[in-house]
Amino acid sequence: MREGNSVVVTGGAGFLGSHLCERLLSDGREVVCVDNFFTGMRRNVEHLLTNRRFELYRHDVTFPLYLETDQIFNLACPASPIHYQRDPVQTTKTSVHGAINMLGLAKRLRARILQASTSEVYGDPEVHPQTEDYWGRVNPIGIRSCYDEGKRCAETLFFDYYRQHRLEIKVVRIFNTYGPRMHPSDGRVVSNFIVEALRGEDITIYGDGQQTRSFCYVDDLIDGLVRMMGTPADFIGPVNLGNPTEFSMLELAERVLRLTASKSKVVFAPLPGDDPRRRQPEISLARDQLKWEPRVGLEDGLKETVAYFHRLLNT
Ligand SMILES: NC(=O)c1ccc[n+]([C@@H]2O[C@H](COP(=O)([O-])OP(=O)(O)OC[C@H]3O[C@@H](n4cnc5c(N)ncnc54)[C@H](O)[C@@H]3O)[C@@H](O)[C@H]2O)c1
Repeated sequence: MREGNSVVVTGGAGFLGSHLCERLLSDGREVVCVDNFFTGMRRNVEHLLTNRRFELYRHDVTFPLYLETDQIFNLACPASPIHYQRDPVQTTKTSVHGAINMLGLAKRLRARILQASTSEVYGDPEVHPQTEDYWGRVNPIGIRSCYDEGKRCAETLFFDYYRQHRLEIKVVRIFNTYGPRMHPSDGRVVSNFIVEALRGEDITIYGDGQQTRSFCYVDDLIDGLVRMMGTPADFIGPVNLGNPTEFSMLELAERVLRLTASKSKVVFAPLPGDDPRRRQPEISLARDQLKWEPRVGLEDGLKETVAYFHRLLNT
């Protein structure tokens, strides 16, 4: 396997990708950010353009990519339901064709490759919390399936390239992550609540607000990705990355209201199809193998995120 310094980050102009590019540059790496700007924004990486070790490349991963690199972080894929349901066929293509193209590139170069998979591969789970050996309960024909099944198929492809071509793969399953540079209108719960609170609009809770989620702050998550890429070749995952502390949607809304000093009211709307009631990562494997666990609490993470959206909405 190659041991050089250059890294490709697909989806590098998105929320997680832009933080990952930043972190890799500060680690002294040479970074090529590959993105078609479907949900990502040039603004997310604009401050990196003056760095001579950074390159921004507009490209759609459903088409083959030819360049030289030592490692690939494959993050390209819209992550929020509003965005991935806008063009579901393209979402599946991005996951599946994107994985095939990036795995093909890694195979040609003998480069190490990491897949940003998702807790959605567990679907609406019957076991809590979800360990990596749980196979999931996914609806193959629902409105979320383009994302869930696309990501499941990408995992299959990663493991087949590993078995068939002895490729060095790493698969991480990311649970809800939040922080600065989330898309302000992507419908994800943390950004929704903060933007609604800052604008003084009603905060909309889907369902009764008792459904729980666990939220990982972006810096913690990025640290987990980098650690995973650095593990020995025989550790391939899949490994859960997320924050196991659970909060109900109602509790989250109350915290956001307090931190934004907002006078917004909480209102309730019907739950969308296939929305899981609970989702909590089991992270013993990450603790053991990556020596990783989340460090940033919800309060501190929310403060940074509120400050970001405050700046964004006022510029
Ligand atoms: N944020 C989370 O909570 C979370 C949770 C689970 C998994 N993930 C995974 O992490 C990755 C990054 O998520 P994010 O939250 O940063 O989402 P995001 O939408 O901000 O970033 C995705 C990036 O991929 C780019 N992209 C989409 N289709 C592309 C294509 N065909 N070719 C090239 N680029 C393309 C987008 O323009 C965007 O910059 C995704 O693969 C997502 O599935 C994220």
